[in-house]
Amino acid sequence: MTNPLIVALDLEAAEARALVQKLGSSIGFYKVGLELFTAEGPAIVRELTGAGKRVFLDLKMYDIGETVKRATARAAELGVSLLTVHAHPQVIRAARAGAAGSQLQILAVTVLTSFNQADLEDLGVSGRTISEQVELLASKGVEAGADGFVCSPLEVARLRAIAGPGAILVTPGVRSPGADQGDQKRVATPAEALAAGASYLVIGREITRAAEPSAAAERVLSGIGSFKHLNSDRDS
Ligand code: C5P
Repeated sequence: MTNPLIVALDLEAAEARALVQKLGSSIGFYKVGLELFTAEGPAIVRELTGAGKRVFLDLKMYDIGETVKRATARAAELGVSLLTVHAHPQVIRAARAGAAGSQLQILAVTVLTSFNQADLEDLGVSGRTISEQVELLASKGVEAGADGFVCSPLEVARLRAIAGPGAILVTPGVRSPGADQGDQKRVATPAEALAAGASYLVIGREITRAAEPSAAAERVLSGIGSFKHLNSDRDS
C-alpha cells in the first residue's frame, strides 16, 4: 500500500527536526507551511528532501503571473513535490509554467475553510453558496491545469467528480475515531476521507503532539487498513 499520510510540520524548526527523526521511515511526506518556511526558509525544505522525504510546500501563492511563475520555479529547484496556489486561473497557469519540466505538481486552494457565506458576500460574491463557489473555482482550476486541490473531507467526493480520477486531492481536517479534534470542526476519519476520494491526508496535531508520534502514525495507518489510494501511480 502507498502511504497516503502527509504530516504537517506546524512546529518550531528544532521540534520539526526532532519529529522527523522520531517518525523515521514510517512517514515519507511532510507539509511545510507559512510558519516554518518563514522562520527557516528553503534550508528546511532542502534538509527534508536531502533526507529522502517528499515535501508539500503550502504557501498558497497569490500574486501577478511573473512572480508566481518565478517563485514556483524556485520551489521546483528545491525538489518540492506539491505546492499550493490560490485557485484563480491566471495564478494556476503561472505556477504550471514555473513548474514546467520538473516533478513539482500544483495544488489549488479554492475557498478557505475559515470563510463563511458573509465573508464571500463581503467580497462581492453574491448569489452563490460556498459549495457553489468551491465548485466554480475547482472547474476553472481544472481548465487552467491544476494537478489537484486541497479540500475538506466533506468536499472531496464532489471535487473528485469535477477533477477526475487522475487529480491529486489532499485533505486536511482528518482525525482518527476518538482522537482530539482540536479546533477542527468538520472532520472525517482517515478511512472515510480516502473512501470519499482523497489521495493524501494531511495530519498535524494527532501525530505531532502525541506523546509517541510513531505510535500515533502507526495507529492512523492501521485505521486505513489496506486501502489502496487513487494516485499510487504518481508516487513512483
Ligand atoms: O493539526 P491538524 O491535523 O488539524 O492540522 C491540519 C493541517 O492542515 C494544518 O497545517 C492546517 O493549517 C491545515 N489546514 C486545515 N484546514 C484547511 C486547510 C489547511 O487544517 N482547510
